[in-house]
Amino acid sequence: MAEMNVIAITSGKGGTGKSSICAGLGYSLSKQGKRTLIIELDFGLRCMDIIFGVKDQIKYDLGDVLEGKCKDIQEAIVPVKMSTNLNILCAPENPFMVVTADQIADICQQVKKYYDYIIIDTGAGINSHVFDIVEQSNMILVVTTPDPICVRDARMMSDEFYKRGNQHQRLLINKVSRRMLKTGIINDLDEIIDNVGVQLIGIIPEDLELIAATGKGAPIPYGATSLLAFDSISRRIQGQDVPLTLKFK
Ligand SMILES: Nc1ncnc2c1ncn2[C@@H]1O[C@H](COP(=O)(O)OP(=O)(O)OP(=O)(O)O)[C@@H](O)[C@H]1O
Ligand SMILES: [Mg+2]
Repeated sequence: MAEMNVIAITSGKGGTGKSSICAGLGYSLSKQGKRTLIIELDFGLRCMDIIFGVKDQIKYDLGDVLEGKCKDIQEAIVPVKMSTNLNILCAPENPFMVVTADQIADICQQVKKYYDYIIIDTGAGINSHVFDIVEQSNMILVVTTPDPICVRDARMMSDEFYKRGNQHQRLLINKVSRRMLKTGIINDLDEIIDNVGVQLIGIIPEDLELIAATGKGAPIPYGATSLLAFDSISRRIQGQDVPLTLKFK
């Protein structure tokens, strides 16, 4: 997948916010004029259609693409109404479907000319196929929350990538509480970064507005703290020098 901007979002523990982050970063990148495709690999646990309010518009999904049920992959790629540059390819409803790294690489090759960024949402739990897929991406965003168990799982995950020689990892700390933001955030953050051993690309505050928006398929409201974080992280992804924002409303 060289020469493509493929970003894989992954975590050791489940429920860290990978899908919400895929959606938030996809939304921000597309608002910044980048043509973006989200590929959802969470087999059997599809959620992008709900997050983006396009549940009734999914005629074909990734499973249909893999099984050759739709003639053209474009038939399975659904534009998201809330942003002109944003598209999704939803996970199959069949939880037992197997996908290989080569198949995903092939899909990315087929569509790469239409997109500036392809974001891959890996599901809960990670098997060796997913490892291979994630490893082929240009950037791996390892997501953790401040919870020590989650941090340890992120460490195990990133160690595995390091062992395989992957140097393109960046750390995202999600669900950072208001309390933590007010008190001693620098120490806490430093400890998390040290424990995971991956360079930080951003922190995302715990944000009720994000939960409300993704739950009803609405855009994250302008000014929401998580959206501010997604905006700066997506600029950093594009190589811009954006300071880490530590102040949230
Ligand atoms: N920054 C945040 N602030 C508050 N809630 C959040 C934040 N990020 C995610 N959540 C909430 O955490 C829950 C899990 O999020 P999400 O489904 O995105 O995680 P996931 O890592 O994709 O889970 P899974 O491992 O099951 O795929 C959801 O209820 C979501 O709304
Ligand atoms: Mg998910």
